[in-house]
Amino acid sequence: MTKHVLVLGGDGIGPEVTAAAEAVLRTLDERHGLAIAFEHALVGGACFDATGQFITDDTMRRAKAADAVLFGSEGGPKWDSLELTGPPEARSGLTRLRRELELFANLRPIRPFDAMLSHSTLKPEVVKGVDFIIVRELCSGIYFGEPRGIERKSDGLLHGFDTQDYSEPEIERIAHAAFALARSRRKKLTSVDKANVMESGILWRRTVTRIGERHYPEVRLDHLYVDNAAMQIIRDPRQFDVIVTDNLFGDILSDGSAMITGSLGMLPSAALGAPREDGRRPGLYEPVHGSAPDIAGKGLANPLGAILSAALLLTHGLGRPDLAGLVEKAVGRALDDGVCTPDLGGRAGTSQVTAAVIEALGQI
Ligand code: NAI
Ligand code: MG
Repeated sequence: MTKHVLVLGGDGIGPEVTAAAEAVLRTLDERHGLAIAFEHALVGGACFDATGQFITDDTMRRAKAADAVLFGSEGGPKWDSLELTGPPEARSGLTRLRRELELFANLRPIRPFDAMLSHSTLKPEVVKGVDFIIVRELCSGIYFGEPRGIERKSDGLLHGFDTQDYSEPEIERIAHAAFALARSRRKKLTSVDKANVMESGILWRRTVTRIGERHYPEVRLDHLYVDNAAMQIIRDPRQFDVIVTDNLFGDILSDGSAMITGSLGMLPSAALGAPREDGRRPGLYEPVHGSAPDIAGKGLANPLGAILSAALLLTHGLGRPDLAGLVEKAVGRALDDGVCTPDLGGRAGTSQVTAAVIEALGQI
């Protein structure tokens, strides 16, 4: 059965790195008969210039129908400075995609390659062998809670306020996603909250515990307060397998953890929804980095974050974790051979790195 992958390159280096990821997927398709049909559309500033919208209704429809969306990056000085009004979905194609596809589970794997250990901000002996995934809740919490605002209150002073609000089903669905992932790995889940001072944290902890006891008895569950979690990730990152946490804590912990691996250009991510009735699961796969206007169009972008995002697409979108493993091995080989872009201290361009990964795929 044909698998539909919608490629949304976006702005800046986005189209350069999604082209690299697509080339890797096409190579695997030829060898392993994946029957992938690629479609392409505009998103972000490029789409705004062409249509006046950051993503069109037609592209939204195609994204909903696709088996997976491969996304590059959106934005750049030209559009960031526009003073646009309206809801966040009207100002960003990515936000509209996340909202309307209900991509509530954001996966960020933290796994440094051996050749990269010296690029980590931590000591190589602390970083070697690190392999964990942060599962961040992406559709709720303090980023969306009401009421919020800046108002003068009865004390005569200006107050800025936000609301952290999680419903029980919102916690249940992210807990299921995280437990299922942990079950497929080393069977250890660490849930991070601030239950000592936050009511939402108490409900979070209680709900995650209940889901674990009822549905995933084979997964070992620990709880950490977020302050301790931040410390433990830096002190001994090897202790973690899967970490599940809310939108705000996940945002902070995942950027901090990212530096364990050394370079922004290397980091992949997946944003997943709930499995649909036909068994397919909406998913958007993108490198963590932005559109890098400073190097766009120069052929110097590190394509590995996008290529590793394609590996996540193989696992979660196409059900081929075996091929995802091949891609990760091929990336490791290219790095071992010293083929890398300037952000990693190398001299290769985007196309040379991509070619090295594809060549390594043929040798594994
Ligand atoms: P950025 O991630 O685009 O760039 C930060 C620095 O890292 C730059 O020096 C850049 O050259 C470098 N870099 C990033 N990716 C790289 C790669 N693959 N290879 C080599 N070097 C790389 O972040 P910045 O500068 O804050 O944002 C630029 C634009 O991207 C803004 O318009 C921002 O809104 C947008 N953005 C979009 C994101 C998305 O689409 N998910 C995420 C983050 C930023
Ligand atoms: Mg991105």
